Amino acid sequence: MPTEITLRLQINGEQVRRIIPANRSLLDFIREDLRLTGSKHGCDVGDCGACTVLVDGAPQLACITLAAECEGAAIRTIEGVTDGGGLHPIQEALHRHVGAQCGYCTPGIVMAMTSLLEADPHPSDSAINEALGSNICRCTGYTKILAAVREVARPGSPS
Ligand code: FES
Ligand code: FES
Repeated sequence: MPTEITLRLQINGEQVRRIIPANRSLLDFIREDLRLTGSKHGCDVGDCGACTVLVDGAPQLACITLAAECEGAAIRTIEGVTDGGGLHPIQEALHRHVGAQCGYCTPGIVMAMTSLLEADPHPSDSAINEALGSNICRCTGYTKILAAVREVARPGSPS
């Protein structure tokens, strides 16, 4: 097994090429090598969702993903959740509903919900719950997060 690899992938629309240790996690690659620190270390064992990023559009737990597995992939992090650098509708709705308190879980939740809404702009409550199933929030009790997601998914409906 080589101890180092040359990794080429796309991050938030930009091509990146780096020589990295073969065992580097995707989360450490994003945070330490690229200095994109919005994706968080929580449990580091795949239980909390704080590290969620999109790999080719699908949510993935970056702490338990090897960067090497992402050769050629398109990665989106919270820093690239919108093209122009403004807030994503989910972020705006979380702000309106006070769905972020300490905010540590928020980047992961925004990425998971972004993926859901891009696949299905009007998901059912059970689809929302399922898509949030890998994301733990210790502050909000989820009610405000769900209200924010419902508002974006079904504008005009009672949340
Ligand atoms: S830090 Fe990745 S799932 Fe908790
Ligand atoms: S807002 Fe603190 S963990 Fe979710």
